[in-house]
Amino acid sequence: MKLIIDDAHIDQIKEIYEFYPVDGVTTNPTILAKSGRKPYDVLKEIRAFIGKEAELHVQVVAKDAAGMVEDAHRILEELGKNTYVKIPSVPEGFKAMKMLSKEGVNLTATAIYTPMQAFLAAKAGASYAAPYINRIDNMGYDGVAIAQHIHDIFRKNNLNAEVLAASFKNSQQMLDLAEYGVGAATASPDVIFALVKNEAITSAINVFISDFEKLVGVGKTMKDC
Ligand code: G3P
Repeated sequence: MKLIIDDAHIDQIKEIYEFYPVDGVTTNPTILAKSGRKPYDVLKEIRAFIGKEAELHVQVVAKDAAGMVEDAHRILEELGKNTYVKIPSVPEGFKAMKMLSKEGVNLTATAIYTPMQAFLAAKAGASYAAPYINRIDNMGYDGVAIAQHIHDIFRKNNLNAEVLAASFKNSQQMLDLAEYGVGAATASPDVIFALVKNEAITSAINVFISDFEKLVGVGKTMKDC
């Protein structure tokens, strides 16, 4: 399962890239608005930092298929042909996906709450389908189970698409999907920073260090003895 950062704050993206094994960046219009910067300024800075080959997912904003296609062309022009264009999984979006997939554009179907949306998006040419795990949970359904259903539907229908699960609130939701082998998960920096945050881990490491320092001296490590 790929691990992707769902954010557009370059400082946080840099910090996560330094410490975590991540595979790219996803954004949406709300995330771009939170950055407070001009969309293509921030997106170009992200692209320059993560590199030309890394996955960058950028969403169209137009409501109709023709406008979505225009948005997609501008996104690719500004950010590179391998950029994944995110398109909402609604009828106008399916129409745009069909048009863009014929051009070979990488597509991520987004705003997915039901397996049927994902099924239709994959048939329309999307490479990824992004179910919103936590938002589905908050509606009283099981977001993880829906992502798993989508994964199974893709496999059983030989669809060339993967789940890119989004909208996480905790590490267990991500772990459940890693265990199931879905293609990718994208999470906000606060969720990523909390993936391995546990007093027991910190305490175990501190005991190792203090025991060793008792043996060879404070501040000493394996290189010093
Ligand atoms: O792109 C969709 C995803 O970012 C939604 O996440 O946390 O706003 O539910 P969230």
